[in-house]
Amino acid sequence: MKIVEIENVSKIYLMRGKKQSPVYAVTNVSLDVEEGEILGLLGANGAGKTTLIKLILGLTPMNEGSIRINGYDVTKSRAKALSKIGALVEAPTLFANFTGWENLKYYSKLQGCDMSDDKLRSIVELVGLSERIDSKFRTYSLGMKQRLGIAQAIMHSPSLLILDEPTNGLDPDGILQMRELFINLKKELGVTMIISSHILSEMQQVCDRVAFMVKGEIKAVKTMDEVNYGVNALRKFSLECSDCEAARLIIAERGVDCSVKDNALIVTAEQEQIGSMVKELVDNGINVYAMNRIKRSLEDLYKEVAQ
Ligand SMILES: Nc1ncnc2c1ncn2[C@@H]1O[C@H](COP(=O)(O)OP(=O)(O)O)[C@@H](O)[C@H]1O
Ligand SMILES: [Mg+2]
Repeated sequence: MKIVEIENVSKIYLMRGKKQSPVYAVTNVSLDVEEGEILGLLGANGAGKTTLIKLILGLTPMNEGSIRINGYDVTKSRAKALSKIGALVEAPTLFANFTGWENLKYYSKLQGCDMSDDKLRSIVELVGLSERIDSKFRTYSLGMKQRLGIAQAIMHSPSLLILDEPTNGLDPDGILQMRELFINLKKELGVTMIISSHILSEMQQVCDRVAFMVKGEIKAVKTMDEVNYGVNALRKFSLECSDCEAARLIIAERGVDCSVKDNALIVTAEQEQIGSMVKELVDNGINVYAMNRIKRSLEDLYKEVAQ
């Protein structure tokens, strides 16, 4: 089922009172988010990620198009559309002199959900803050602040969680903890997530799909498998064999693109063809010791997407 349906959405910022040209922040974007998936929104600074997220959350009006969440139009039925969404867009608004716990208690009362201490404790545990929850918020690291913000965002058990650059500014340790948290949130709560970032490698271990945003447009949406290995017809494999040169001659006979590199035969082919290639090599007395898919470089991917 589709949780979010974005259709032909555009957003233009007009600078009032200034002689500046309008900013086309989001241009004709269409994108669906499936229930249960983690969708990465990847783009350089200024690509339009935050604007698109604000449009999904109804925080800024769109110039064209429509967005539906759980079937409800964000513009026409805002309250219903947003009732099951949790979000962390800018730094969380929490009180510096309250402890983490006091902040969450206060917020839960404010929300009118005044949840039990047990339930709150399980959320604190999920975001990995149990040990420091009684420390003052101002003593938290950026990563801890972000995780408390996420605790706040998931208190009302949302079906969709939207996080805008949650790893921005975190050190490698903080990024690792955040990544583990995303995977846990998906596992424990089954929550659908949209996570934006300008760093692809941060998304690679977390997301199911990635939408590539360039200058306000979604240029491509790829599954993680496609991100890593390309489309099926153009996948690269390395076959380590006893006689690579002889293997190359046999495989080239098939009209398959192949070459020898570092004692391995590199072939570009559909993955369904690999089994019969290996069999043919073995039938011709060549031993195949190992076979691997070759991951594409991030540079290759950027070239392909940004064109
Ligand atoms: N409130 C605003 N008023 C005018 N221009 C804006 C505003 N917010 C963002 N922009 C512009 O819109 C473009 C997209 O920005 P943004 O959505 O913040 O990108 P990202 O989150 O990917 O860095 C940028 O050119 C930015 O300067
Ligand atoms: Mg942004």
